[in-house]
Amino acid sequence: MSLLKTATNVADFAAAARRRLPRVVWDYLDGGAEDETTLRDNRAGFERLKIMPRVLTGNAKRDQSVELFGTRFASPFMIGPTGLNGLFWPDADLALARAAASADVGFALSTASNNSLEEVAATGPGTRWFQLYPWGDAAFSARLLERAKRSGYSAVIVTVDTLTAGKRERDLRNGFSHELRITPRVVLDGLAHPAWLRSVWLGRGMPRFENLAEFLPPGASASQLADFTRSQRNPSFAWEDIERLKRTWEGPILVKGILASADAVRALEAGADGVVVSNHGGRQLDGAPATIDALPDIVAAIGGRGRVLVDGGFRRGSDIVKAVALGADAVLLGRSTLYGLAAAGQAGATRVLAILRDEVDRTLALAGARSLVDLQQMQIVSSPPSQLRHGALDRVV
Ligand SMILES: Cc1cc2nc3c(=O)[nH]c(=O)nc-3n(C[C@H](O)[C@H](O)[C@H](O)COP(=O)(O)O)c2cc1C
Repeated sequence: MSLLKTATNVADFAAAARRRLPRVVWDYLDGGAEDETTLRDNRAGFERLKIMPRVLTGNAKRDQSVELFGTRFASPFMIGPTGLNGLFWPDADLALARAAASADVGFALSTASNNSLEEVAATGPGTRWFQLYPWGDAAFSARLLERAKRSGYSAVIVTVDTLTAGKRERDLRNGFSHELRITPRVVLDGLAHPAWLRSVWLGRGMPRFENLAEFLPPGASASQLADFTRSQRNPSFAWEDIERLKRTWEGPILVKGILASADAVRALEAGADGVVVSNHGGRQLDGAPATIDALPDIVAAIGGRGRVLVDGGFRRGSDIVKAVALGADAVLLGRSTLYGLAAAGQAGATRVLAILRDEVDRTLALAGARSLVDLQQMQIVSSPPSQLRHGALDRVV
């Protein structure tokens, strides 16, 4: 039977992705920084939190839809921005955009995508946001925002936790950085994974950062584009630059990579419409807190003046329910949908979204909630039970 029929959860897709991908590609997808403590803690954070169920609440029908910046989505999650998706599947950004649209959830395209933002926009209906890496040359950022606006992207996520590269030791050991260099080890690794080799490598060759192609001479290679990306890192990017980007873009802007509540407030002062509580999936500062632990203080500090999204380790519907109960408006999926994509392309990502939707619905039912609004009154209990945590509105004691 096919994986699409047999897989019952995100972990099944992760296992299948791991089998299909060469080691170097799997490590890029799955790995974190240094000792990977933050990577692990993102998951452990969920395990420490429990949902206190309420019974007999008459919740035979549940509604998990959510409104963000004027658009209603079918579920409180969307596909977050990830770069170099073309390493996992050919035309991967198109596949993810289509999977999101078919599930009626949003899709955020990375600056470092392998299909251009215009190609992704041409996939048809769907709500798409553009993720911007703050470039050294402000003119490049302005130009990307102009293209995103012209192509109908409705919000921008500015990622601020990667101004310096994280130390990802699996990648260092594999000699991997922004691109796959052909070494004897990579060739052997590829030959041992023929399904991937046929579809990705022999099909397309090294995926290029297509959004950036216009900044280099025509026909620039994947490797030249990767060098360009490295050269454009901008460690001096600051809050004033967010203010400038907001003026340029005009539409909704979210600052992604916020963990301290003071920074969440600063983001709003700089004109942001919300934040993404994120530690980049444990790929940047190892030792940063789990995002689910950082979330409640940020929700309190924002106090309803902006939207709060969160990502990091979300693999179950119950994880998503916990985040919403703690006050998040929505969750960005990183590796979960990448596992689906890397295992089975668009169909795999679509199936992951369906599994998560079903798990959110089932969790709402079992917890005794009819909607996301009910969740705000849900008791979220941290284990050991001596430390009690409550839903965002702190109404239940
Ligand atoms: C393979 C990979 C590539 C990523 N590329 C980007 C990127 O280009 N831009 C960005 O803002 N975040 C990027 N991220 C971070 C994700 O947006 C998100 O913060 C993180 O994956 C969430 O954690 P999770 O994967 O455990 O769900 C990437 C993450 C992964 C796993």
